[in-house]
Amino acid sequence: MSYAAEYQRSIEQPEQFWKEKAQALEWFQFPKTILSQDENGMDRWFADGELNTCYLALDHHVEQGRGEQAALIYDSPVTATKKTYSYRELRDEVSLFAGALKQQGVTKGDTVVIYMPMIPQAVIAMLAVARLGAIHSVVFGGFAPHELAVRIDDAKPKVVVTASCGIEIARIVSYKPLLDDALEQASHKPHACIVYQREQELATLQEGRDVDWLEAVAHAHPTDCTPVKATDPLYILYTSGTTGKPKGVVRDNGGHAVALNYSMSAIYNMQPGEVFWAASDVGWVVGHSYIVYGPLLHGCTTVVYEGKPIKTPDAGEFWRVCKEYDVKTLFAAPTAFRAIRKEDPHAELLNKEDLAGLRVIFMAGERLDPPTYEWTKAVTGKCIVDHWWQTETGWAICANPIGIEMKIAKAGSSTVPTPGFQVQVLDDRGEPLPANEQGSIALKRPLPPSCLPTIWGDIERFKSGYLNVYPGYYTSGDGGYIDEDGYVFIMGRTDDVINVAGHRLSTGEMEEVVAMHEAVAECCVIGINDELKGQLPLGMVLLKNGYEDHAEKIQDELVALVRKEIGALACFKIALVVPRLPKTRSGKILRKLLRQIASGEEFTIPSTIDDPNSIHDIQELMLEKGIVVQQMAG
Ligand code: COA
Ligand code: AMP
Repeated sequence: MSYAAEYQRSIEQPEQFWKEKAQALEWFQFPKTILSQDENGMDRWFADGELNTCYLALDHHVEQGRGEQAALIYDSPVTATKKTYSYRELRDEVSLFAGALKQQGVTKGDTVVIYMPMIPQAVIAMLAVARLGAIHSVVFGGFAPHELAVRIDDAKPKVVVTASCGIEIARIVSYKPLLDDALEQASHKPHACIVYQREQELATLQEGRDVDWLEAVAHAHPTDCTPVKATDPLYILYTSGTTGKPKGVVRDNGGHAVALNYSMSAIYNMQPGEVFWAASDVGWVVGHSYIVYGPLLHGCTTVVYEGKPIKTPDAGEFWRVCKEYDVKTLFAAPTAFRAIRKEDPHAELLNKEDLAGLRVIFMAGERLDPPTYEWTKAVTGKCIVDHWWQTETGWAICANPIGIEMKIAKAGSSTVPTPGFQVQVLDDRGEPLPANEQGSIALKRPLPPSCLPTIWGDIERFKSGYLNVYPGYYTSGDGGYIDEDGYVFIMGRTDDVINVAGHRLSTGEMEEVVAMHEAVAECCVIGINDELKGQLPLGMVLLKNGYEDHAEKIQDELVALVRKEIGALACFKIALVVPRLPKTRSGKILRKLLRQIASGEEFTIPSTIDDPNSIHDIQELMLEKGIVVQQMAG
C-alpha cells in the first residue's frame, strides 16, 4: 500500500483504520467502541477494551514461542557489563518484582515513581508497575532533588524505586542521597522506597522506609497481569512547559499499545526478532516508547545502553554496539552525532562494513540540522530519517514512513505526517496558511491513539495550554511550514521551551530559580544556538541596588543555584549581569529580540520598545563577554 492511500484512510475512516491496527494485539477484551468522548469531552480510543501492556510486551511473546529470544540486551561500557535477558527471563524478573511492589501495597491505579540510571532494573520496574495495572512516573536521573520533589508531590507515589548510583563520564552520581533530599523537600511521603544496590556504590538505607531490591524480590511471589481498561493510565511523564511547574503528560494503555506496535512496522520497518536500539534514556519519552514499549510490544530485541556516544570510552561506541548486536535500526538525537563528529570528524573509528546489518538511523528530540544530516549520511552511507514528535504524542507526528513507503528525504524536513495526524500550519488567528508560509504547527482533532488525554490532575491546564488556543486543534508549541509537496519543516519552539542536547527544558523555570537569589531584581533566560548541544540557556540579570560590586560572585552563585535546583543537565553556565533589559512600554521583556541579538540574526527594534538604547548596551556586553554567536547552518 502507498503512503498516500494509508494516510488518506487514516483520516477518512479513522475508526475502521485503528480497529484494524488494534487487531494486531492480544486484548483480554477487544473494544467494541473505537473512538468516543470522555466526561471531559476528550477523544478517547478503545474505551471499553481491556488489556495489560506488560502482558503484551512479555507474556504474550513467551506464549507465542519467543521465550528464548533475546528481549533486552544491557550494554554498559561505564561498568564493563553486558547481559542479555530472554523474553522468558525478563517476564520472570518482572513478575517477581511486581510481587515485590504488591507486598509494598501497590495495586491497580496506584502511582510509582522510578528514579534510576540506565540499567535493566529500570525497565523491569516500569514493566512490573504496568503488570499490576498501576501507573509509573519515571524521573530522569539527571534532575536535581527539587525537580524530583515537585514530581513526587504531583504524582503522589505509593512507592519510589531507585538505585544507589548512576555513572556519568568520569563520575559516580549518588542517586540515593538525591532521593533522600527530594523526600525531605516533598510534602508527600511514599509508603516505601525500593533501592537497587549497585556494586560501584552502596547506599545507606533508612530503617522502616527503604527496602533493598534483592531482599524485596527474595520474599516476593510471581504475580500475574492485572487487566485494565484501554483508557486507564499506563504512565505519567513530566515534561517542561513554560512555567516552573512541569506538566504530567498522561499516557493510556490501549491507544499507546496500538500506536506503538503500528509504528514499529509503519515507521521503523521492524520485524519481530530484529534488534532495535534507541540510544536515549528511560527518563525521556523516547526511552519509554522505543527502549521499552515499542520494541517489546513488537517482539523485537531492545538495547539498554548505559554510556554516552563519546568518551565511554570513545566516539566509536555507536558503531561498536550496532556491529556487536546486529542492530537494524538506530535511533538517537542529532546532538549525539554532532558530538561524534566533533571527536572523530573523519569517522576514523567507523568501519562501514561493521554497519552491514544496520538499515536506518532515525533522529529526533530536536531539529536535525542539515550539516549533521549530511555528515551522518556520508560517513555511514545509511538512510537517515528525521522524525518529529513530542512527549505529548508518544510517537512520531511526522516521519518518513519507510515501512509503508520510502519517501525521498529533504534535508531539514521531518518528511510527511504519520497516518492519523492531521498537521496544519496556522496563522495567529488560527487560519490555515498556504504552502511554504511559516506559522504555528497545530494538529486537527481527533488526535490519533497514544496522544495525551489530559495533564495529570489538571484537565484545565490541558485545555488552556493545548486545546483552547486554536479551537478544534491541538497546538504543538512548534513553529514551521509545509512545502508544496506536503513535507513538514519544524523550525523551533514558539514558546519558552528550549532543547539542550535533546533535553527539553523550560527557560521560564530557570528564570524562577534565578529570581530566587536575593541579589536579583529582574531576570530573563533565553536559548542561544550552540554547535554541539543545539541550544544552551543564557541568563541575563539586573541586580538590586547595592549588589553591583559583587557581580562576578553573584554570576557564579546563579550558575550553581540552577545546577542545584534543576540539575547539571540544564547546562546553565552563563548568567550575565546587565545594566537594563530591553522591554516594551508595558514592561514585557523582549525575549525574541534578545534571542536574535545573541544569535547574530537580523532584527528590527519594535516600535513598542521603552528604551532603544538598552539594545545597544546588551549588544556591547555580549561582545565584550565573548558570548560566541554561533549560527547553526541551514
Ligand atoms: N544523571 C546524572 N547527571 C546527568 C545525567 C544523568 N542521567 N545525564 C546528564 N547528566 C549531567 C552530565 O554529567 C553533565 O554534567 P557536568 O555538567 O558535570 O558535565 C550535565 O548533566 C550535562 O549533560 P549532557 O548534556 O548529557 O552533556 P555531556 O557533556 O555529558 O554529553 C552529549 C554530551 C551530546 C554526548 C550528550 O548530551 C548526549 O548523548 N546527548 C543525547 C541526548 C539524548 O539522547 N536525548 C534523548 C532524546 S532522543
Ligand atoms: P520532547 O517532548 O522532550 O520529546 O520534546 C519535544 C520537542 O522537541 C518538540 O516540540 C520540538 O520542539 C523538538 N523536536 C523533537 N523532534 C524534533 C525534530 N525531529 N525536529 C525538530 N524539532 C524536534
